[in-house]
Amino acid sequence: MAYGFGDEFLSDLRSRCDIESIVSKYVELRRSGSDFVALCPFHSERTPSFHVSTQKQMFYCFGCGTGGDVITFIMKIENLSFPEAVRHLADIAGIKVPQKDFMDTELAALRKKVYDINRDAARFYYNYMISPSGTKGLEYFHSRHLKTSTIKHFGLGYAPPEWDTLSKYLIEKGYVENDIVAAGLAIRNNSGKIFDRFRDRAMFPIINHRGNVVGFGGRTFDKDSPAKYLNTSDTIVFKKQENLFAINFAKDSKAPQIIICEGYMDVISLHQAGFTSAVAALGTAFTPKQALLLKRYNPNIAVCFDSDGPGKKATARSIDILEANGLSVKVLTIQGGKDPDELMKTDKGPEIFKKMLTLSPNSTEYKIMTTKQKYNLTLESEKALCMKELIGILAGIPGPVERDIYTEKIAHDMGVKTESISAELNRLQKKLNSGKKREENRKLLSELQGRNNKINPQKQKWPKVAKIEEDIISILLNYPEKIQEVEQNIHEEDFVTDFNRRVFNAVSEKIKQNPSGEHMNMLSKHFEPSEISYIYSFISDINAMTVSPETIKKLCAELKDQRTKIIQSGFASDESFEAQIQKIRMRKNGH
Ligand code: UTP
Ligand code: MN
Repeated sequence: MAYGFGDEFLSDLRSRCDIESIVSKYVELRRSGSDFVALCPFHSERTPSFHVSTQKQMFYCFGCGTGGDVITFIMKIENLSFPEAVRHLADIAGIKVPQKDFMDTELAALRKKVYDINRDAARFYYNYMISPSGTKGLEYFHSRHLKTSTIKHFGLGYAPPEWDTLSKYLIEKGYVENDIVAAGLAIRNNSGKIFDRFRDRAMFPIINHRGNVVGFGGRTFDKDSPAKYLNTSDTIVFKKQENLFAINFAKDSKAPQIIICEGYMDVISLHQAGFTSAVAALGTAFTPKQALLLKRYNPNIAVCFDSDGPGKKATARSIDILEANGLSVKVLTIQGGKDPDELMKTDKGPEIFKKMLTLSPNSTEYKIMTTKQKYNLTLESEKALCMKELIGILAGIPGPVERDIYTEKIAHDMGVKTESISAELNRLQKKLNSGKKREENRKLLSELQGRNNKINPQKQKWPKVAKIEEDIISILLNYPEKIQEVEQNIHEEDFVTDFNRRVFNAVSEKIKQNPSGEHMNMLSKHFEPSEISYIYSFISDINAMTVSPETIKKLCAELKDQRTKIIQSGFASDESFEAQIQKIRMRKNGH
């Protein structure tokens, strides 16, 4: 993966993009010793295991094993390719990317094309709508009480009824058929011709948090149509599970909370009424990726879904996802079965909604309330069942103070002794904790065995030997000055697993080329982000290791020894997993 940026440029870029200041744009960093820690933006967690080292200019999450340098971080969090991430950072740092020898990957080029096509299509749909042929669209939006300024603000439009008006227009502009299909705006039929995906529909452009038009929702005017909304299917720039409608506006809103509602029209009506932090999932259930996207901008969420059966289910699921990702949630219920769009059309609607935002129950209160509604509490038997469920809710509250408050409240409301609830709660929590431990052990074991390890699949066969190889590589990365000592004792042929051999070669070559460089950082050019993360996972183990010349000699001798054994006896049996787990634990605890 050489992109021809040149090491000098990349090194300059990294020195201008301090990892702490870049990462802190996305997560809240807290100082911890010489490092910074945070809740990991790449997986769900409640206690921080995401570390940023300013000294090493790297990040690493002990929870999910993601790690790398500032470029890897941007690739992951912004979902960009290496050259795109470099350009993104260069923009921030205000330096020029060396254009001459910059080789755009085909992927990055196609992505840019698709953004351009989408933007031009959005303009086309809008212009068509305000032209004499497009009055049907404009009138529709007006009939739904949208002001002209709102229609413009959201860039709403109208897709012509013919088969290929948009495609023809785009081709005339110089785009090619394949790219229009790749953007999701046209479909190729069996005879190889393309036709427009959206026809005779009211169009809602979907704009991502970086301001690019990435897709569309198109509403039919036909009451009998089976699909009321047709959405862009996933493309190279659009994953509907990772996007939210109106995030481009909501992210800049100064409102105390982000409002999640169900539909395009709900969002637009709310914005029109001044609630500019409203977003909607795009016709799918709310996902963890969407939760993490919101968390970047505001950890306080108000959920406002329908109050019917499916709406309640969707609410419960979203609460779980949001809370698991460390967001706090309020639940808004509109009386009379209305959705926010309908409410905004009523006289007092906006005022009522504003009150709801402050007065609505938080997720715990909501869960308690809906649980109690499910049972007939005048019957002792149902009351007992209800209590059981309520205690389950209490057990899920992470903070002990909050848990105490709700324990008291439930005791009072249900007429049960606080002590009895606490006793049950303790029992339940013990049970849950032992389950967590088991899960941790299972993870440790599979890590040890290299199970599911797609990056170095040979580690499963030879876990012990792979671990030694990784220790040797991390010595080189942490202490490049030891290169000679290492090379006196080991050669690439001595490596057993192919991936580690490749890493060893790349690292030692970099060190020899530039003994004082930042070697780990240089790797992002040669390895995939997932591979880089994996390499970081062994670096982070080394802090507990003292690297004396004897350590190096011993490790290298052991590797050679193991390798010989493997060759002689087929696959030598490793020490018991139990013993290995013990060792990993000791290492992790810094012994
Ligand atoms: P709704 O039917 O509640 O949409 O579906 P809405 O926005 O209130 O629609 P109208 O225009 O006021 O009648 C909620 C959301 O689910 C997705 C859309 O994102 C919609 O906004 N959806 C719905 C689809 O993707 N396809 C459909 O066929 C229906
Ligand atoms: Mn609606």
